[in-house]
Amino acid sequence: MRVLVVGNGAREDALSWRIAQSPSCDAIFAAPGNAGTASRGENWDVSATDGKAIVQRSRDERIDLVMLGPETAIAAGVGDRLREAGIPVVGPNRSAGRLESSKIFAKRFMQRHDIPTARAQIVHSLEACLKVLSEWQGPVVVKADGLAAGKGVVVTPSPRAAHAVLEQWYSSGVPGGGNDVLLEEALVGREISLFAVCDGRAVAPFGTACDYKRAGDGDTGPNTGGMGAYSPPLGFPDELEDAVRERVLAPLLRGLLAEGEEYIGILYCGLMWCEDGPQVIEFNVRFGDPEAQVLMPRITGDLAALLRTIADGAMDLSLASFSPRSCVGVVLATAEYPQRSTPLHGLSPDVSLPDGCHAFWGGSTVRDGAVAASGGRVLTVTALGDDAAQARERAYDSVSQLASRFGAAALTYRSDIAKPAMSQ
Ligand code: AMP
Ligand code: GLY
Repeated sequence: MRVLVVGNGAREDALSWRIAQSPSCDAIFAAPGNAGTASRGENWDVSATDGKAIVQRSRDERIDLVMLGPETAIAAGVGDRLREAGIPVVGPNRSAGRLESSKIFAKRFMQRHDIPTARAQIVHSLEACLKVLSEWQGPVVVKADGLAAGKGVVVTPSPRAAHAVLEQWYSSGVPGGGNDVLLEEALVGREISLFAVCDGRAVAPFGTACDYKRAGDGDTGPNTGGMGAYSPPLGFPDELEDAVRERVLAPLLRGLLAEGEEYIGILYCGLMWCEDGPQVIEFNVRFGDPEAQVLMPRITGDLAALLRTIADGAMDLSLASFSPRSCVGVVLATAEYPQRSTPLHGLSPDVSLPDGCHAFWGGSTVRDGAVAASGGRVLTVTALGDDAAQARERAYDSVSQLASRFGAAALTYRSDIAKPAMSQ
């Protein structure tokens, strides 16, 4: 098979890396790709959101399967364009993609189909927010409706603090645009990302991971796209997967079918494991970043073949599965991330590491043998181990090696990814 991965982050580098090793994959392409995808296949100078150009080039290159990485491609309708052209694609159409691109759509969908989720009020103006907050007790989670690259959610300790956020949003612009905001009760529990695969007719869990969203050690500092992850998560009960299957995935699929939405792709359930079981914090319609970077090294079998059966509406889960080994991933970011993404130039494309360890590139290009990184999350360094402790030790050894190759000052990272106190 000739496989195209759409996107340019470390998630797409990890997907391309694992797909390229699949026995059924003959050639790998990326649109637009990055320094990592360029090292094993061809990068196309085509934007991840340009459905027309992706279809055209996929036809020219006789692509057999397209894997959509980022939500921006799905929200731009790239899945719709590829399906219209008869090109097999993993990633839902724009309409089902609203599960991620509109938090209000997702909340109403969950309410219609009895999927457990935090209680919420939908509001469209500062006046309406103030009215709701005047009757609110305790913490408030303030969420912008649209895609806002990780900047659209603020967990506040009180209605007063929520008020301050909303005043700022309504004066300088709600992140992601528009006026629609969700005010949500704060859930108490432990967070876990559960992934599922869906071929339009059936849905099945496909991997779990824990993501570290805050910039600083000890979960301090601002929210980011994710500063590290590990898989499988520690300290969750064995019944988690069955509970999510029964209370989240089954009603979700029933709801999608009842509403005429065909969902072919990866579904990411951002969950809070609470006293009485799972509550959905959010749905995303793709793999997570950095979760994909710690899931891909654990996959055995033929991922490309599995993805093709998903795209064809007849998924065969026996084609690929997860090894019981642990994987830990640490993100190396530029110093001012997430406030600013400072570009870096002249980096060595050689990020080779010992067996079982891997470094995946974030947004980057290669020219004249040197890498220019767009900044922010520059690399995700991952390591496999027999357990999380061993994987963690190997991952941080690799981080030290790379940080010294790149010069200590340029990149920062969290030092507590998968640290026992942070992961139990
Ligand atoms: P999101 O952008 O939806 O992933 O939200 C970012 C982060 O905000 C999540 O990973 C959670 O840590 C936190 N969060 C969102 N909604 C809630 C909630 N209802 N209760 C507690 N934390 C939340
Ligand atoms: N790691 C969070 C996300 O991909 O949205």
